[in-house]
Amino acid sequence: MVMIEPVTIQKGLDIDAIRRQFPILNREVKGRSLVYFDNAATSQKPQSVIDALVNYYTRYNANVHRGIHTLAEEATFAMEKSRDAAQEFINAVSREQIVFTKGTTEGINLVASTWGRQNIRAGDEIIVSNLEHHSNIVPWQILIEEKGATLKVIPVSEKGELIIDEYKKLLSPKTKLVAVNHASNALGTINPVREIIDEAHKVGAVVLIDGAQSTVHLDIDVQEMDCDFFVFSSHKMYGPTGVGVLYGKRELLESMPPYQGGGEMILSCDFARTTYKKPPHRFEAGTPDISGAIGLHAAMDYLEAIGRKNIAHHDQELGAYGFEKLSAMKGIRLFGPSIGRAGLVSFLLEGVHAHDVVTVADQRGVALRGGHHCNQPLMRKLGVESTARASFYFYNTTEEIDRFVEVLRDIQKFFGA
Ligand SMILES: Cc1ncc(COP(=O)(O)O)c(C=O)c1O
Repeated sequence: MVMIEPVTIQKGLDIDAIRRQFPILNREVKGRSLVYFDNAATSQKPQSVIDALVNYYTRYNANVHRGIHTLAEEATFAMEKSRDAAQEFINAVSREQIVFTKGTTEGINLVASTWGRQNIRAGDEIIVSNLEHHSNIVPWQILIEEKGATLKVIPVSEKGELIIDEYKKLLSPKTKLVAVNHASNALGTINPVREIIDEAHKVGAVVLIDGAQSTVHLDIDVQEMDCDFFVFSSHKMYGPTGVGVLYGKRELLESMPPYQGGGEMILSCDFARTTYKKPPHRFEAGTPDISGAIGLHAAMDYLEAIGRKNIAHHDQELGAYGFEKLSAMKGIRLFGPSIGRAGLVSFLLEGVHAHDVVTVADQRGVALRGGHHCNQPLMRKLGVESTARASFYFYNTTEEIDRFVEVLRDIQKFFGA
């Protein structure tokens, strides 16, 4: 279990003012003010991110790297500035360690298809956990099928925490890769990644951390964490969809073959032989998501301006408040640990399907999510098909959680539960 050190919210930090920076939070749904609790699926965007996108398209839209006219230079400069910002955001040693991808899913597939194809052999073992999103399971399954390797799974306790003693037993010289998430999208569990990484390194395994749910809640330092790969998506941290980052240790990235072939990733191309650029461009074939990278930069600036420790603290408080409020209800089953969790609650109301909870809540302007959350193996382990999930971000408030709890009580009355 990982605890976050409490911090004092910056003086003058005003959640109402922050909410006004997110235009969508002003809208109504079904005649009521929107309560947006589907943040773990995707976050809303502040005006500064929207403005960065509009500014790019209205003032300097051009293709990057190739052009030498003013617009192309401005677009290239802005995109490469985003790489610098991402380097700083996760504290990578160098900007060359930041590869732009479509998002977390593509980052994991990139590593599986390049590092994985090059390094995994018959008889090798890859370890994932029972808490993983499908995007951190399926790419490894495709790889092990191709190579004749084996997938091992770190079990999860009844409380929804990884059983680290069991993990240690799975590790052996056969382990070549460990791939786990930093924070679970289904339960909110924050995993002890530093310990997981240290143990994996003792047997010489490489570690990929799926940061899809952590970059928005926690301060990320890849050097301190000592992970070999770290992946995240822009859209879950106030940035646009369609872009994300793969971080890799330099010697690993340099040793990896290209992911896709095409423009921008070659040094020279001929029918007899093509040579490739160094990372990160080796892995960025074709026209990248230029506006996405620029929007992501604006999102990272936004997070830094608010203060990431403040965000972590507020999100944890909301998660704890939500968990406490729901724990006080009768006829509810809560999933995941009671402490050491990201800002989300996963639950089931007795006798009410998760989809019915989400549908009725939507009628009251509350956006939730219900389903398996792309975590079917975890749902099987929990003995359920689905859960309902309310996920909170920095712009949410305890008043909104109170309104959500009221809605849940009404749903219980309506279904006679
Ligand atoms: C923990 C986790 N990993 C991976 C993903 C996939 O992210 P994306 O769809 O942005 O590639 C998600 C998305 O919900 C997630 O929550």
